[in-house]
Amino acid sequence: MQIVRYPHPTLRHVSKPLVRVDAEVHRIVRQMFELMYAERGIGLAANQVDLPYRLFVLNLESDPAARAEELVFINPVLSGRKGTVEAEEGCLSLPSLFGPVKRSERVHVEAYNLRGEEVQLDLEGLMARAVQHEHDHLDGILFIDRLSPTHALEIGDRLKSFARDLERQQASGEVPDDAAIAARLIELERLRT
Ligand code: CO
Repeated sequence: MQIVRYPHPTLRHVSKPLVRVDAEVHRIVRQMFELMYAERGIGLAANQVDLPYRLFVLNLESDPAARAEELVFINPVLSGRKGTVEAEEGCLSLPSLFGPVKRSERVHVEAYNLRGEEVQLDLEGLMARAVQHEHDHLDGILFIDRLSPTHALEIGDRLKSFARDLERQQASGEVPDDAAIAARLIELERLRT
C-alpha cells in the first residue's frame, strides 16, 4: 500500500460502500494510519491508497502515540451543514501544495466504526473541515477543485508538474497504466462492495 499522488485516476473515482467490516478492513485501516503518520498527515481516504471504498481515517494529532484520537469512518454520510468558513488546506496526494477552501462550519456525520457500530457525530472546527475534505475524496473531489479561480490559476504550474511526474512513472511502469488501474478497482469493488 502507498499513497498515490495527483492526478492518479483513483483520486477521481467515486467510491462504493463496504458491505462488511472484517479482518481485511481492519488490516487496511491499520496500514492507512501508518502511512498517514509517516507523512505527518491528519487524515487519509481510501482513494488515496488506491482503494475504491468509502472509508477514511483521521487523527488530528497526527501522532501514533495518540491512539485515542484515531477515528475511522466507514460509509460516512454528511448532513446538516451550517455556516461557511474559509481556511488553508493541503493534501497528502498533493504534497507541499496549499490553498484556502470554504467549508461548512458545522456538519453532522453518520458512519460505521471498525466495530461495525453506527456512529453519529456533530462536528465543528478542524474536525468538521477534515471530515468534509476526506469525504470529498470518496466522491473523487480534491481540495484544489474548491479553490477560487484566482488561487486555481496560481497553482496551475504545480499541477502540470505533478501530471508530468505521473506520466513518467506510468511510462516507466512504476505506476500501472490507466486501464490496469481501472481494472483493479473493478475487481476490488466486486470483492468488497
Ligand atoms: Co486529501
